[in-house]
Amino acid sequence: MEISVSSNRKTSEQLRSYRWYGVNDLRSFGHRSRTAQMGYHPSDYMGKPVIAVVNTWSEINSCHTHFKQRVEEVKRGIWQAGGFPVEMPVMTLAEPFQKPTTMLYRNFLAMETEELLKSYPFDGCVLMGGCDKTTPGLLMGAISMDLPAIYLPAGPMLRGNWNGRTLGSGSDTWKYWAELRAGKITEEEWKGIESGIARSPGHCMTMGTASTMTSATEALGLTLSGFSSIPAVDSRHAQFASLTGQRIVEMVWIDQKPSDILTAQSFDNAVTTVLAMSGSTNAIVHLVAVARRAGIDLTTARFDELARITPGLGNLRPAGQYLMEDFFYAGGLRALLVELGELIDGSQMTVNGTTLGENIAGAEIFDDDVIRKRSNPLVASDGLAVLTGNLAPDGAVIKPAAMEAHLQKHRGPAVVFKDYADMAARIDSEELDVTADSVIVLQHAGPVGAPGMPEWGQLPIPQKLLKQGVRDMLRISDARMSGTSYGACVLHVAPESFVGGPLALVKDGDMIEMDVHSRRLHLEVSDAELVARKAAWQPPKRPFERGFGVMHQLHVTQANKGCDFDFLEEPVGAGAQQAPAPVTQTEQTVPSTSSTTRTEPDIH
Ligand code: FES
Repeated sequence: MEISVSSNRKTSEQLRSYRWYGVNDLRSFGHRSRTAQMGYHPSDYMGKPVIAVVNTWSEINSCHTHFKQRVEEVKRGIWQAGGFPVEMPVMTLAEPFQKPTTMLYRNFLAMETEELLKSYPFDGCVLMGGCDKTTPGLLMGAISMDLPAIYLPAGPMLRGNWNGRTLGSGSDTWKYWAELRAGKITEEEWKGIESGIARSPGHCMTMGTASTMTSATEALGLTLSGFSSIPAVDSRHAQFASLTGQRIVEMVWIDQKPSDILTAQSFDNAVTTVLAMSGSTNAIVHLVAVARRAGIDLTTARFDELARITPGLGNLRPAGQYLMEDFFYAGGLRALLVELGELIDGSQMTVNGTTLGENIAGAEIFDDDVIRKRSNPLVASDGLAVLTGNLAPDGAVIKPAAMEAHLQKHRGPAVVFKDYADMAARIDSEELDVTADSVIVLQHAGPVGAPGMPEWGQLPIPQKLLKQGVRDMLRISDARMSGTSYGACVLHVAPESFVGGPLALVKDGDMIEMDVHSRRLHLEVSDAELVARKAAWQPPKRPFERGFGVMHQLHVTQANKGCDFDFLEEPVGAGAQQAPAPVTQTEQTVPSTSSTTRTEPDIH
């Protein structure tokens, strides 16, 4: 792996931490004496880059159980390179456990990250994440702060195994749950799957949101090249953790910040990567939000443009056959990026200190069934598709690669559920008026309404249809869907029903037409009738009266804008590689090699 060393370096006096440790005043006496209280001699930290190791470990985050060990390896690298590591625990966002959804807390992790980096004496940071929302949350906060930052991906867990069969996170849960409900497997077999599907540390090893976002982050240039594909328990993962610690120290000395790396082209690289890996639909919401923190207006329309020209090469579940462990052995992300050729802009800078093109040069595919050649893609294009129409004026998303092909053009009568509780109560009723041609609609599952836009979008197929052998049908909601899920599920309908979007106006029996090829989602109800229904529509009561939820429901943006808080977005064009932000009185007294240092309050 190539890592560059620059000769244009800061001095110790130019470090941000100098304001805490280096000056000789009453406050710095306190900082030094309290650091001594922790057992450190000035020779441990004085004049050295102070590195925050931002760690999402907790005893309830099953995907990050190895982070207790990895943080020591990161710190080893930081010490080796002459830095001073400080571990900072942050919200863990454990996807399988947190209710109603980790998405409700993604922006709060971003805020926590930004505020920690801002308020303590840090010169740079290592961001330790992987489980779904941790990646975008950490990136969003670090980008807003714009200190040198490098991302450490948790790495995928090993392949699941049960009775000699390979199991994939999530995907096989949904698959065998449907089989159980259809009476095709026994309760005992279901319990066997439960004990074998997650058998090592690491994030979900299907091409779910975690693998999608860690791969996208590497393509963005924010992770050491090759790191995101390494399984969590592989010894090379530990080695890369140490290298990450070493590298962040150098990044501080040369002042390499996210704003020096992130461009519209690097986001195109990330989107192309997601599409080529048949990645999660959640990447749209997250990458749009991450880009907007950098002042880059990444739109859902751009996803759709790139989807039309990007082949699906990663033969990974749920769209394909294999798992991330296979992907690593087949050459990993570097090999896939090489195969994408001119679809990737290799001139973009990365945390390695070299360009993306330099990083991936010479990478090979070792199994071209797992990483397909462009001459034999899994799908020629349309890994994701953005639909619009009178049912989704601001767009909706579908994953054509992970649905039954005959549903890509479909027309059928709506079966409407007004919220999740209504659906749970009636979906399996023998009385439900539903056929395989019906279109199941779930309302009130969006960013404000659900609340937090949970992953309910893979709406269940009614049990009576399952027993008839139906395994896919058209389903529509303003929810998200787990990246490990599959099916003809239209997601992220914007604006959402809870705030009066057209999805709120759909009634049982209304005909709905969807056509992936023409990107159309149409409710066959006249404009006049829709106006009348809207006039009769009553805004529901907001779900929160206290806590984080109040801030969320007041400030969260719609899915097409990334569901960030409106007051945290960077104005488009004001972020990465744009005009420098103003500096405060305090900063003007501190020499800096930075050209784009963000505004900070007077910390003294
Ligand atoms: Fe953590 Fe899937 S549950 S990544």
